[in-house]
Amino acid sequence: MSISPNTIQKIQQAVEIVDVVSDFVSLKKKGSSWQACCPFHNERTPSFSVSPSKGIFHCFGCHKAGNAVTFVMEADKCSYPEALRYLAKKYHIEIEETHTTDEQAAQQSLRESLLIALQFAKEKYSQDLMQTDEGQSLGLGYFKERGFNQATIQKFELGYSLDAWQGLESKALAKGFSQEILEKSGLIIKKDDGKTYDRFRGRVMFPIHNLAGKTIGFGARTLKKDDKPKYLNSPETEVYIKNEILYGIYQAKNAIRNQEECFLTEGYTDVLSLHQNGIENVVASSGTALTDNQIRLIKRFTDNITVLYDGDSAGIKAALRGIDLLLAQGMNVKAVVFPDNEDPDSYVRKVGGEAFRQYLASKSKDFITFKTELYLGEVGNDPVKKAGIIRNIVESISKIPDSIKRAVFFKQTSQLLGISEDILIAESNKLVIAEQKKASQQTATQNQVFATELQQDALIEGLTAQTLEAVSKESVEKIIGYQEKESIRLLLRYGQYYVNNEQQLWQYLFEELVEITFHTPVYKEILTLYQTATQKNEVVDVEYLMAKGSPEVQTMVSHLLWEKYSISENWQKMYGIFIPQETDVLPKSVYSNILRLKHRLLEKIIAENLQKLQNLAAPEEEETILTTHLQLTQTKNQIAKLLGSVVTGWVN
Ligand code: UTP
Ligand code: MN
Repeated sequence: MSISPNTIQKIQQAVEIVDVVSDFVSLKKKGSSWQACCPFHNERTPSFSVSPSKGIFHCFGCHKAGNAVTFVMEADKCSYPEALRYLAKKYHIEIEETHTTDEQAAQQSLRESLLIALQFAKEKYSQDLMQTDEGQSLGLGYFKERGFNQATIQKFELGYSLDAWQGLESKALAKGFSQEILEKSGLIIKKDDGKTYDRFRGRVMFPIHNLAGKTIGFGARTLKKDDKPKYLNSPETEVYIKNEILYGIYQAKNAIRNQEECFLTEGYTDVLSLHQNGIENVVASSGTALTDNQIRLIKRFTDNITVLYDGDSAGIKAALRGIDLLLAQGMNVKAVVFPDNEDPDSYVRKVGGEAFRQYLASKSKDFITFKTELYLGEVGNDPVKKAGIIRNIVESISKIPDSIKRAVFFKQTSQLLGISEDILIAESNKLVIAEQKKASQQTATQNQVFATELQQDALIEGLTAQTLEAVSKESVEKIIGYQEKESIRLLLRYGQYYVNNEQQLWQYLFEELVEITFHTPVYKEILTLYQTATQKNEVVDVEYLMAKGSPEVQTMVSHLLWEKYSISENWQKMYGIFIPQETDVLPKSVYSNILRLKHRLLEKIIAENLQKLQNLAAPEEEETILTTHLQLTQTKNQIAKLLGSVVTGWVN
């Protein structure tokens, strides 16, 4: 079966791209578009933008772009029909099916087969909880005893797995699922002798959902007191990648966004109990150390996180390492510990939602105070140990990307520990330098990435794959040439156009390019020719350049003038695609082209500067290099921000 064209059309008419994207990342309005840090690549300054009027998204960093359907495909890593089904559900559109061929069915990916099997299992566990004697007495009995009500059971789709070896498997096989899929989804286990049995037996089931609300795995709690393990979890599979997901994120995401804060707990039941008591902005790390990917998942919705530690947690110290990861990702981190032998679940059940909130408000501390008090309480005034703590705290502060926030924390720590700020900052600088050295060793890889990005840019600018293949063999400098070429092309085609009230394009370009030396000789020559001519009030046109330019310039000029023009014309002829007249979007494309050029050049200069760290002539040089590095990256970030707010011509 497949989705009818009629339904597809209805879906396309109903979708609101901002609304769709918002289910996966928090957008902020900027002018006529909406922005966020890109969900598809790691970044600190937003370069991902969504245009509601055009119904498209676009990332200036990783260049992913598309409409609502392709967004869902990317964000949920699903196929086209899956994305359509997701959107149909979201907008309450009934799906009309048409028959599919065997071939189409066979194309259904492994991921989708696993998701369907997991969905089946979730439904079966849920039915077995509600509709079998065993499920009602043992499973429901257990949930009741723990105080979970019907609403919570439904919201989290809790279930029960029958205490049988083939309870799930036999039903699933009868439904047509293959053993292979059941095994790959982690639902059954295959022994060496080929015999198979259900992984989950006689346990209450906690489905784990992805951001789109699909079941990707299970946590399963035993009902017996000393049974090990207490929680048996799905193995890592094609769809359940443990380091990328947090329990409860699907149910919590809207509350996290609205309240601009996320509570991080350790356990499944913490999430459930807090929800039941009206606190919905909560997720669980499921008892494991936090990962960068999980932090990025939270960061899609908020920068503010409060870590809730169990009172009896032996692992607070180990968990503290998670704090440094959070800081390094630019999160604002607070922490709170519960009284002895209480976890968020037991505590909220004891005192209720309101008192729980008050506890958090009065007891949560920023991470510096939290760490300091925790450690100082242990070592008292032993100077050696105290020095160790100071270093540890300085290490955490050094992880914070924002220099202003760092400064605030240095001040605070200096007051808390009675140590001068200068000493703290000097200590921190040592750490930062060590980090930078590491980074400079990675420069080679960075250059590689950089080259790829440039190629993508070039592709967008309408260059052909063949040209690009040649380019990939060239040096980074040559690739910068593409950006230069674009400046020249704009100059030649539209030099006389006004880009704002006062300036013609050539004036604007020259002003902006004043501190930039072009790398590519032929573009440099054209630029100089143009400059000299305009200074003498001569008109620079094709004839002029053909007469005065070198043979290279002549070839280049004729090439440049026709390239893009013919592409648009062909497109319009062959595909009926309307390419807006470039002059319609001219100021934007000039502006963004200059920004990109500057961005590229800065990246190159930054890499070169860092490379110097490897062969220092004198130790004092280090400081100069790092100061330069800071200035350069700040400028680069400013440019990246500006770039993020321009919509370039080609997106139109
Ligand atoms: P806890 O032992 O604190 O469990 O483990 P809990 O959440 O408080 O559960 P209850 O209240 O005893 O039922 C915290 C989390 O660590 C993971 C689970 O995700 C659990 O929620 N865990 C714990 C496992 O995965 N396996 C285990 O055997 C134990
Ligand atoms: Mn517990």
